[in-house]
Amino acid sequence: MKFKNQSNNYISLCIGLAAISFTYQSIARETSYSPVSLTKPFTEVMKEDKKNKSALMKKHQKLLNKRYNLSENVDKNATMSGGKPIPVGPTAKLKGGTSWDKLSRMSPAEIKKKNLFPYLPLPHVSPAGGGLVVPQEQLDSHPELVRFDMDFDLPDAYLPEFPAPLYLISRPDLGDVSGGQELTINNYYNKLNGILTPFQLDGMRLLVTPVAQQQFNVTDDRKAKIAQDAVSCFTCHVNGHSSGVFHLNPDNRPQETRFRIDTPSLRGVNIQHFLGSKRALRSLEDFSEVEAKTAYFDGDPVIAFKKGARRFSREEIAAMAAMQNMIAFPPAPKLSIMGTLIKSKATESELRGEQLFTAHCASCHSAPYYTDNSAHDLQVERFYKGRAEGLIKTFPLRGIKDSPPYLHDGRLLTLEDTVEFFNLILEINLDQKQKTDMVAFMRTL
Ligand code: HEC
Ligand code: HEC
Repeated sequence: MKFKNQSNNYISLCIGLAAISFTYQSIARETSYSPVSLTKPFTEVMKEDKKNKSALMKKHQKLLNKRYNLSENVDKNATMSGGKPIPVGPTAKLKGGTSWDKLSRMSPAEIKKKNLFPYLPLPHVSPAGGGLVVPQEQLDSHPELVRFDMDFDLPDAYLPEFPAPLYLISRPDLGDVSGGQELTINNYYNKLNGILTPFQLDGMRLLVTPVAQQQFNVTDDRKAKIAQDAVSCFTCHVNGHSSGVFHLNPDNRPQETRFRIDTPSLRGVNIQHFLGSKRALRSLEDFSEVEAKTAYFDGDPVIAFKKGARRFSREEIAAMAAMQNMIAFPPAPKLSIMGTLIKSKATESELRGEQLFTAHCASCHSAPYYTDNSAHDLQVERFYKGRAEGLIKTFPLRGIKDSPPYLHDGRLLTLEDTVEFFNLILEINLDQKQKTDMVAFMRTL
């Protein structure tokens, strides 16, 4: 009898709790803010995160394998600027016996209805957790950037070279000034003293100085075992380019609705009038200030204060901008001063590709830098059921062979995938030969 009573009490307690939780959920709103206080000790959080990590990675890898053929196929005869072979695609898997040709003859509405679009937004490994995730090759020399809650997801073949070469607008005669090394606080001075101006050198020092960041800091509220303020601008924009570090976009909340965002290159930022995929900050000074103050802490100034954000002075910001303005696009020996192909240096295929590109792509990606310095809404949601992605900056395509994966979230792993993507988006029905030519042309940029 006693047992029965207890069980009745238990049932009513459960009903009561469910009712409270239901009422709470129906009145609770999504929040824009990150939690300020941790309720569990660091060691316990780490233990739990570590335990959940393999299931998280397995689930994500399953999604990647479902969407992509990750065979790491590369063209050994075609390389990025520093010599890494260029990956070859398309990597996207097509569903249900469709072919690229069949797909490109369908209307966006039909593709959406049949759920056949091969280029859905690429999610962050953990959209709820978020934060920056560093590729394995970079982690080999940076144990302080290893996260205990998640790993990087894409195979190395689809990433920029690590470390990428650094070319300077002020010294094109020198070629790559990095000496094949990742520039850090430990070596930048030796490498660049005598090449940069004192003001640029100071800017470089600041760009490679590690500071506190959301997941990598000294507080208990971090995701690295090592307690260290570990993130510099060049952690993500390695040597002024990118190593493929990804994050969540800074423009919207709640956390779960944020898109994955791939780190863009800083090569050629001096010619860009529009910085950030959506935010359109107009100066490098403003961007540097905003990046350090908010982006480092998931856009939450309260957390930034808690974890020890570095406040750069206006003079420091100016020096950082001055240095970023010196980062050049890689050499493109087949391009004229107007950024078009020099006929005597180009192949037939590249020249045909240029013509096609001029016809279909150049209204947004115009020479010489292959950007219109603006933003467009490609209305990708015409092709799938999901949240609209909105206006995105037209990224410049100069040096594009060096920057896989492509698009703001890195969902296109190869240049072939970018051509298949735009073939659908623009509904232009290119045939296989035209697609090959278009890729050949983009490799020359
Ligand atoms: C966590 C990796 C990460 C770190 C660290 C980082 N960035 Fe970025 N950076 C990004 C991402 C991701 C974007 C794209 C943001 C967007 O689209 O809104 C970006 C965009 C930029 C842009 C605009 C580029 C463009 O083409 O629109 C500039 C300039 C920039 N960062 C400079 C800096 C500076 C200066 C620092 C150091 C204060 C810094 N970044 C630190 C990842 C990083
Ligand atoms: C209506 C303007 C527009 C046209 C036309 C256009 N693009 Fe783009 N392109 C964009 C925008 C905007 C983005 C960024 C989209 C994103 O990140 O979600 C982009 C991104 C890209 C990228 C990836 C850049 C990067 O750094 O990741 C490539 C490659 C590209 N376009 C190639 C092409 C090709 C090839 C064509 C023609 C077949 C083309 N584009 C036509 C606007 C355009």
